[in-house]
Amino acid sequence: MSLSGPALVGRTSALDTVVRRAEHGRSSIVTGPTGIGRSRLLVEAGVRLERAGRRVLRATATASAAAVPFGVLLGFLDRAVLARMARRTRSAARRSCAAASARSNRTRCSSTRPPCSTTRPPRSCSS
Ligand SMILES: Nc1ncnc2c1ncn2[C@@H]1O[C@H](COP(=O)(O)OP(=O)(O)OP(=O)(O)O)[C@@H](O)[C@H]1O
Ligand SMILES: [Mg+2]
Repeated sequence: MSLSGPALVGRTSALDTVVRRAEHGRSSIVTGPTGIGRSRLLVEAGVRLERAGRRVLRATATASAAAVPFGVLLGFLDRAVLARMARRTRSAARRSCAAASARSNRTRCSSTRPPCSTTRPPRSCSS
């Protein structure tokens, strides 16, 4: 039986697999040629999970989101969570800078400017 739109033909096994895995907290990667029905399969799986009382979050990967680490997931985070993450990142950066400062008197740490990149050493915060 189709749960969304015209009748779903076949795919019973794949649909059951995706739904069962999701119910156990497992992910699935659905692959196949363009137009084969990957999106439809996920829509059906989502509807089935919702009808079973599960919370389903939907996101679409885009080229622009790909430029940001975990970009496709950012929309799931509310402002409060993002603000807390930013505060923690700044605090961690300040601690790193303070540690670097203790090693070198030439390094200063700012509490207002953005934290230094995690891929760069703390001394790159300011000099
Ligand atoms: N098993 C199926 N039974 C009936 N219709 C289907 C089935 N699978 C897909 N369709 C229909 O075929 C069309 C294309 O499917 P879908 O958009 O899911 O493909 P896709 O693999 O996600 O393609 P794309 O490459 O565009 O992302 C849709 O209209 C969808 O409803
Ligand atoms: Mg698709």
